[in-house]
Order: sequence, then structure tokens, then C-alpha cells
Amino acid sequence: MEGSGLSADSGNSFTDLRLRFQLEYGRALAVCGVMGLYARDQPLWETGRAVVNVESGRNGVANPPRLVDPFARAITYLRVSVTDRCDFRCTYCMAETMQFLPKKELLTLEELDRICSVFIRCGIRKLRITGGEPLVRRGIMELFARLSSYLDSGMLDELTLTTNGSQLARFAEELSTIGIRRINVSLDTLDEEKFRRITRWGRLPQVLKGIDAAREAGIRIKINMVALKGFNENELHPMVQWCHANNMDLTIIEVMPMGDFDDVTRIGQYWSVRDVRARLEECYTLQSLSERTGGPARYFQLAETGQKVGFITPLSHNFCESCNRVRLTCTGTLYMCLGQEGSADLRTPLRGSDDRTLIETIQAALARKPRGHDFDYTRQGVAGRMQRHMSHTGG
Ligand code: GTP
Ligand code: 5AD
Ligand code: SF4
Repeated sequence: MEGSGLSADSGNSFTDLRLRFQLEYGRALAVCGVMGLYARDQPLWETGRAVVNVESGRNGVANPPRLVDPFARAITYLRVSVTDRCDFRCTYCMAETMQFLPKKELLTLEELDRICSVFIRCGIRKLRITGGEPLVRRGIMELFARLSSYLDSGMLDELTLTTNGSQLARFAEELSTIGIRRINVSLDTLDEEKFRRITRWGRLPQVLKGIDAAREAGIRIKINMVALKGFNENELHPMVQWCHANNMDLTIIEVMPMGDFDDVTRIGQYWSVRDVRARLEECYTLQSLSERTGGPARYFQLAETGQKVGFITPLSHNFCESCNRVRLTCTGTLYMCLGQEGSADLRTPLRGSDDRTLIETIQAALARKPRGHDFDYTRQGVAGRMQRHMSHTGG
């Protein structure tokens, strides 16, 4: 997978993981009794180890425990939404008229830096900056620059972002210099008129220019295409070919029931990735790959072209058992699952106390991470839908 940004998969099944966990940590569980308050590499969290130490943060804990949830899933991936704003209004993500948060509600860049640093000390290895559109947040490069020090020190494996591409022409060079090696760009169609329709406000040439700038800056690109029946079905092959011609990977995503929408439209839009895959198999030989990028996609190689295509299948094939991630909003709310309501306020401990209390709040939140989402589309209706818009948590 040279240059692809894909990495090896551990291939553990949920049952195996859980069994191993129970054996390894049986003693800790018996003593601790509270799920989520134990470390991967330590038998128990030594609660008395609060010290003042530059490396350990503010009046913090020297070696906070790794984050593990009640289902023995190690949490190593943090998605951070730095703004709820966006210069597009994609129909499956936002309403046309959105009420955005007042600026004073947002965490400052310094606070975002501090909270990310705390998560990194707790074992987060992959950090994805999202939005809204992350590149419309004023001063965002400052945050990337600060966080990139964790790439240099080896505490982070990856610092990256998901973007609509509109601001990439402006920022690509700087992102590359900072150490961003690969990014995901949302793009559902290559047709200018359809692009305007789906994004409501977007202009395709601006995004294509941004993608070119990122490639020229040496950043590897993965295109995120939300599969929408009756909208981009006939663009599957052109999209595969375009990505291949430009040396980019492609991920195809099933549309999830987020935000306010009418069931009829959304059910009509749902295009199962099983079907997408069958369509691709009419023209290509798909070879399953064990490589993973840390997110929910499963990758296949097209034997005829060597190109990789990823599938994200929240509806047709639930992937929650291998979930390794949580998401933080721009106001400091931690959501443990994209498809459930459970959340924890981290802004109050962030503003009101030292790292120790913040870490304890994160641990307690992790102990409430649910097994997974309940998204389901049937002929009758949509189950598991979430009232909040996708832009609130950044996916
Ligand atoms: P890679 O690092 O390339 O694996 O990226 P990623 O897939 O983790 O991130 P990206 O922001 O590109 O997200 C792609 C799609 O996956 C978006 O539609 C997200 O909403 C969706 N996604 C990411 N994490 C989850 C999750 O935990 N549950 C569900 N249902 N969807 C998710
Ligand atoms: N279903 C699936 N994917 C979505 N995205 C936004 N809204 C939805 C939805 N309802 C995708 C965007 C972006 C990523 C962060 O999430 O296309 O690539
Ligand atoms: Fe903006 Fe991305 Fe949501 Fe589209 S999907 S409105 S580009 S945040």
C-alpha cells in the first residue's frame, strides 16, 4: 500500500477482543468495578498520581490510562469539529437556513489545543479536524501547527482533516508544510449543475482547483462520495475513473439519517453500498484488502486498475463492533457515538479545573459509550434517525 496512507488491520473480531480483554483485565475489573476506568498498559489507574509536570499537562496526571470503552474497544481516534459553520449547505448534512452558534460559545483555539493534548496523553493516536467546514474557522492553521508537534514527537500517528475543498487552494501549501500527508475531500458528483444542487451553495470549479492545489502540495487525497439513488448512480464509473486518473482513493458512503428531513425523500435516496459494489463488479474484479485507515471504511482493490475503493456501510453492514472513535464538537461536547444522543460536557471541566478533572470526565464519558447506532431504513420508515445535523459533530 505504498503511499496510500492505508495501514495494516489487526483483524480482531468483536468476540475475540472482548474475550481477550476479559482475561487480561479480569483482576482490574474485579477491583475497579467501573468500566472505562482502566488502562490498556497498566493494571489499574493509580488515582493518587497527580503531579505538576510540564509533560503531563496542567497539574495533571503523569500517565493517564488509555481510553477503553465498556465493550473493550480501545479509543484511539478523536474527531474534532472546530466549527459548525460551512460555506456549503449539502442537503444530507444541513438545512438551507441554519442557526449557527454564537462565536462566544466556541472553544478558543487555545482550548482546542489543550483538550486535544489531553486526549493525546490518554492514548489518542489519530486526530481528524472536521466541521462544518474546518478551513472556514479563523486562525485554524495555528491549531494545525500546534498539534503537528505531536506528529514530530511521535505521540500522534496522523493529523488530518475532512474538508469540502472550497478553501484548499488557499491552504494546501501550508497544510503540507505543517505535516498533513493525506486528507479526505467530500465530492458527490463531477457535474457542475448537480454539484450546485446537492451543495446548494457550492461551486465545483473552486473545489477542483483546491484538489489540484493539494495534490501539487504533495497531499494524498481520498474522495468521499455519498451514494445517493437517483442522484449520482450514473456517476459511479466516471468517479472511479477520474479518481484513478488523478491517483486518488475513493470512499463511497451510505447516506445516514441525520438532521431534519422527510422519510420519503431519504428512503428514496438510500442506495445500498451492496448494490454499488455489485455495479462495480460488473466491470472490475474487487479484491478485499486488509489495510485500514482507522476509520470505518473497508477497502478493495480493483484488479484491472490497481485503484483502491473504500465502502462505508452504516446501513447495509454495521461496523460498530470495531469502533475506535469519539467526536468532540466546537463547544466542547463529547459525543460517544455518531448515531446516539449520549454526550458529555467537557467545556466546564476544561475551563474550571486542571487536567485531572478533565481526564476523569472523559473517562466517565467513555464508560457510557454505547455499543453502536440504530440506523435502519425499511420500506416503512427510517429508524435510529438523529435530530442533530451531521455538521454538528462533523460526521
Ligand atoms: P479515514 O481516516 O480515511 O478512514 O477517514 P474517516 O472515514 O474516519 O473520516 P471521514 O471524515 O472521511 O468520514 C467518512 C464518513 O464516515 C462520513 O460520512 C462519516 O460520517 C462516517 N463516519 C465516521 N465515523 C463514523 C462512525 O463512527 N459511525 C458512522 N455511522 N459513520 C462514521
Ligand atoms: N450521511 C453520510 N455521510 C454524510 N456526510 C455528511 N452528511 C452525511 C450523511 N447524512 C459526509 C460528508 C463528509 C463527511 C464528514 O460526512 O460527505 O465527507
Ligand atoms: Fe458543509 Fe461538509 Fe456538511 Fe456539505 S457535508 S454542508 S460541505 S459540512
